[in-house]
Amino acid sequence: MTATGHAPADPRSRPDGLGWVSRALFADERVALTVGGEPPPGYAVAARYAVVPSVDRARFLLPLGAPRVTAAALLAYNALRPAATRATRAVLGVAARVGVLDRVPFPVLTVAVPAGLDPTETLLVDRLATLLGADVRYAACGIRPPDPNHKPTLQLFDGAGRPRGYAKVGWNPATRTLVTAEAAALRALAGVAGSAGHPRTPRLLAQTTMGDRAIAVVAPLPAATRRLPAGAATDPAALLAVARRHRPPAASRPLAGSPFLARLTAQARRAAATVPDGARAVRAVAALARRHGDVTVEFGYWHGDWVPWNLGRHGGDLVAWDWEHSGPDVPVGFDLAHDAFHRAVVGSAAPVAAAVSRTTAALARHGGQLGLDPARQRLVRDAYLVELWLRTWRLADAGAGWNPRLHPALLDVVAQQTGG
Ligand SMILES: Nc1ncnc2c1ncn2[C@@H]1O[C@H](COP(=O)(O)OP(=O)(O)O)[C@@H](O)[C@H]1O
Ligand SMILES: [Mg+2]
Repeated sequence: MTATGHAPADPRSRPDGLGWVSRALFADERVALTVGGEPPPGYAVAARYAVVPSVDRARFLLPLGAPRVTAAALLAYNALRPAATRATRAVLGVAARVGVLDRVPFPVLTVAVPAGLDPTETLLVDRLATLLGADVRYAACGIRPPDPNHKPTLQLFDGAGRPRGYAKVGWNPATRTLVTAEAAALRALAGVAGSAGHPRTPRLLAQTTMGDRAIAVVAPLPAATRRLPAGAATDPAALLAVARRHRPPAASRPLAGSPFLARLTAQARRAAATVPDGARAVRAVAALARRHGDVTVEFGYWHGDWVPWNLGRHGGDLVAWDWEHSGPDVPVGFDLAHDAFHRAVVGSAAPVAAAVSRTTAALARHGGQLGLDPARQRLVRDAYLVELWLRTWRLADAGAGWNPRLHPALLDVVAQQTGG
């Protein structure tokens, strides 16, 4: 036994991605995990997974036992994935369909529970099957290097390989908050999404907890959904629909005295109480108020992570997923700023200063359609940058570590922009 109490072959004691994912998914100590071996005596096998391509370089856990489910796990929604992943999955998917993956090459992870113990008490997939009331029999999971900001996402399938849902698993304070926020946003959007210009969203199927795990399960997207190309045009009308949720435009009000500014002020103070750089955020919020306090803007909801890789098309409809950062009461235009900023920082690996220039340009180009004249565009840009730093801090504070691309560069840029 190791220090964590697991047998040596138990992947939960590994420091890598396989260790992290298996700890998140099989949190109950009564569950026995063995790679390439038999379960302990007195245990009943509950599931078997291929560890692909190897234990040391694990990228996927694929369900074994039904070749068409294994194949489906590789092929379902491949069109939504980046090209490199797509190619690997396509090749493996063809092999899986003819049963090759069941017969050889990959190490097998066996999941077993003590005989007589109810698997719905100990195993997430069994719990979700009961909760969904659907024929959920198998699950697959991608594996990435450990990251305190990432959530393992289980793809759930029925016995015929039909996708039944996506379960995101929050396992630390940062990811629990994100999963819970996404469930709340999707619940609130149930009567709104997909009509009158509002993007479609995956439907929330269930929200639950298991031990200290927070889990949200969403319905599979329609199979014909295609993700937007990286350079897809921005859609200001969709952003207005997201901001307003079918309500008439909110009356514009000054930044000074707004609940939004009060929230930023309070969060910056909390940041200052926890990290030395928080004092810079306090100064940035004060500078925002000085510089833009009299400017009036419309406040509304935002998606919170509006980028081409969280958007797709189904037929003529726009589809938006990943609502973890969604919330009410931000200046309309935040999603436009976020889109431009992240296309630059993530999509083109641009430094923060260049991303800010592209944000300014996007606001100048599309801001008019959101009711933003130049003074309002500046408010949106400056306030968004502070909001983004505060998000970066919240994630760090909840155990996710600092995003090195954004911290401290964002604070430097904000100080230059606002004189804060
Ligand atoms: N409901 C769904 N149906 C099909 N695929 C999904 C669904 N939800 C998520 N995915 C896939 O999983 C990926 C990650 O999900 P996402 O919600 O963007 O979480 P995050 O980016 O925070 O990990 C998506 O880009 C998409 O490929
Ligand atoms: Mg995403």
